[in-house]
Amino acid sequence: FGKVSKVVCVGAGYVGGPTCAMIAHKCPHITVTVVDMNEVKIAEWNSDKLPIYEPGLDEIVFAARGRNLFFSSDIPKAIAEADLIFISVNTPTKMYGRGKGMAPDLKYVESVSRTIAQYAGGPKIVVEKSTVPVKAAESIGCILREAQKNNENLKFQVLSNPEFLAEGTAMKDLANPDRVLIGGETSVEGLQAVAELVRIYENWVPRDRIITTNTWSSELSKLVANAFLAQRISSINSISAVCEATGADISEVAHAVGYDTRIGCKFLKASVGFGGSCFQKDVLSLVYLCESLNLPQVAEYWQGVIDVNNWQRRRFADKIIAELFNTVTDKKLPSSDSPSRKTPVSHLESFVPLIFQNPFPGDTRESSAIYVIKHLMEEHAKLSIYDPKVQKSQMLNDLASVTSAQDVERLITVETDPYSAARGAHAIVVLTEWDEFVELNYDRIHADMQHPAAIFDGRLILDQKTLRDIGFRTFAIGTAPDQAYNLFGTAGY
Ligand code: NAD
Ligand code: UDX
Repeated sequence: FGKVSKVVCVGAGYVGGPTCAMIAHKCPHITVTVVDMNEVKIAEWNSDKLPIYEPGLDEIVFAARGRNLFFSSDIPKAIAEADLIFISVNTPTKMYGRGKGMAPDLKYVESVSRTIAQYAGGPKIVVEKSTVPVKAAESIGCILREAQKNNENLKFQVLSNPEFLAEGTAMKDLANPDRVLIGGETSVEGLQAVAELVRIYENWVPRDRIITTNTWSSELSKLVANAFLAQRISSINSISAVCEATGADISEVAHAVGYDTRIGCKFLKASVGFGGSCFQKDVLSLVYLCESLNLPQVAEYWQGVIDVNNWQRRRFADKIIAELFNTVTDKKLPSSDSPSRKTPVSHLESFVPLIFQNPFPGDTRESSAIYVIKHLMEEHAKLSIYDPKVQKSQMLNDLASVTSAQDVERLITVETDPYSAARGAHAIVVLTEWDEFVELNYDRIHADMQHPAAIFDGRLILDQKTLRDIGFRTFAIGTAPDQAYNLFGTAGY
């Protein structure tokens, strides 16, 4: 393999776009072309309004585009000209056939591999950037080797180079990564290919932060990194329930525990459950892998991370339903002195919470908000949703995919202003951590709501005391209900 001067990335998504923009920015001597089968997306990458929002992305793209950064839908041409090709396509959880609901769907990776085999024409370093199960490089290699049999000019090395960026901080993560991981074969050609990829990253990443391993360690490390991160969230969320039942405070516990340098303070924030396109998919992929390897104890261990996450979402929704039910029932049935927790659905119909949705700037994949709203809709709660970054159509589609279009039509209103969304509501449910929500005028909101007015903070971003002083009844994840303010009449949860 010669020196890399032309890089192509197949897949212009949340990973392919920002990663290649960073390579083009840091390596002016390399021409970077990002291709995608979605022509609309490519047109957006070539426009003034990029298809994704990441702080710092626009500036880099606008400076490099047309210079050494190109976006194109001509996939065969780009592949034919490239020295090195990143595969950065989506690998969602499979929704059909063998491994349904667990295994990652590798059909896009396979299809790109076939396209590379077809149009390569000469030697290529092929880099798995997508998150894949262990041994995926073997399947890609198999397809490429088949093409080699018919064309002696073809030569391939498959590397694993998983991406660790998080949405919302992608450019920062790419510019200053904790580490870059590159896996490859230990043959002479394999090591040479690894060295070429190292050379690209060395343009801005210190050499001691570029880790090289064998291919399988690299593939597995990505799944394990996400599993460990997700596990920390499920661990702290499981303890949040203990706090609510005992009077311990989850923020204080996380602070005290995280202060131990062996544990560390990051990723210990209790929440309504982790969301995003990666954690659930990658932990499920690890569980499926362990099951396939006949390691049921290991599979069960990691499945627990997912189970706690689903339970936390449900638990939060149940809490809202239970608390509001008592309030509503008491009003509607004043003679009842033993209100049942099994609410007649009609009583909940007068409950109109304001929901702040979605943890990511525009990417709603697997957002916990979707599942909390789904649980509330199952109780026929009428919901008014506000989110400063997510399009109305996106929210309605997300909800229709987990409920039904009729229920969405009947129960959901989307507002473009938080004050309108709160007007006339019995409760506010905070499901994401936009700064804007901290800064709202809660005196004004309280005045416009039905009373008693409640706030359920699923992200621990609001100051409970201030809200209580205004007159709100409050509930926050991992915080024991303050009996003085616990006007719902539910001593203990
Ligand atoms: P994405 O859905 O945003 O983008 C994938 C793109 O690939 C799409 O635009 C799609 O049109 C394109 N594509 C699919 N098949 C194609 C084909 N055959 N030819 C050309 N284009 C094709 O996905 P993403 O979020 O960028 O994730 C990509 C991979 O990176 C996944 O494996 C994911 O697990 C991993 N990853 C994602 C993140 C993240 O935060 N999003 C972080 C780390 C790793
Ligand atoms: C994650 C990983 O961080 C990243 O390394 C990987 O490459 C892709 O998956 P992402 O899903 O984009 O990135 O966002 P992240 O900021 O990690 O948050 C994931 C979810 O966990 C969010 O729903 C977030 O709210 C939740 N979370 C995070 C918590 O509930 N508590 C925490 O302490 C941290």
